[in-house]
Amino acid sequence: MIRVRKIAHASYETPDLDQQTEYYTNILGLTLTAKDKDAVYLANTVDHHSVVLRKGAQAQCARVGFQIAPDADLNEFEKQTQAQGVKTSRKKDPEPSISDMLCFKDPKGTDIEVFKRDDFYHQKYQSKGVVPHKLGHVAFHCEDVKKVSKFYVDVLGFRESDWMADFFVFLRCGPDHHTINLMGTGSNRHFHTAFEVRNWGHLQEACDFLSLNGYRTLWGPGRHGIGHNLFAYHRSPNGMITELFTELDQMQDEELGYFAPRPWHRDNPQRPKIWEKDPNASNLWGPGPPEEMMK
Ligand SMILES: [Fe+2]
Repeated sequence: MIRVRKIAHASYETPDLDQQTEYYTNILGLTLTAKDKDAVYLANTVDHHSVVLRKGAQAQCARVGFQIAPDADLNEFEKQTQAQGVKTSRKKDPEPSISDMLCFKDPKGTDIEVFKRDDFYHQKYQSKGVVPHKLGHVAFHCEDVKKVSKFYVDVLGFRESDWMADFFVFLRCGPDHHTINLMGTGSNRHFHTAFEVRNWGHLQEACDFLSLNGYRTLWGPGRHGIGHNLFAYHRSPNGMITELFTELDQMQDEELGYFAPRPWHRDNPQRPKIWEKDPNASNLWGPGPPEEMMK
């Protein structure tokens, strides 16, 4: 099958476009690459955009974009998607740097956008704000976690990295332990969006920078059990949760089937598995997520 290779962008609707744009540029430190009458495009570096903001009545993650390989055939990918019983449509030149996009909905109602990137944008990383390496993953609450997880595996070619009991799944489409996570909580909505920072020092600087600008951490810093990434969560101005992370487990070789060994692993080798619902699964260092995280 043709599999998606990476997360390309996440598109949000937000009531106050200017306020959220200010957060993404001056606080998170993404580069504003384009602005048209209804959308703001923000980038990390090689891609034209990693985040798209549009005005909407309520804050939500409406779409997630994924790239297929440069030599993969989007027509074939469309046929393969339709063969799974998924209704698809095509958009020509929908966004800057994307000439041909395949669109469909996942079972929880999020628009999925699959494409090949036409060109790189060569912009430099910004020198203000947190300046993460990249958009890492998007996590969602969902009604039917098994069904949505199966869709990402069967339609998009994701692999299951870990489950927490039977209600929280972490899915990968590349070496990163997770690119999409789905938590069965009875409703379909955004949970958090995560950006990768350089290292522990960068995470510390980011927490200080956030604090100086009035953003308090919601949970962390800590080290997750599942994925083993260092993490710190905060809320962006529109209420949506952002995670900054580093040292996420890497499946460097799918054939070998285990994550690159690290001193903080309890399993050697660390393979994809079902974790018990244990405090260590969410935070190896200390407290679990506060109630506030689930709002
Ligand atoms: Fe996360």
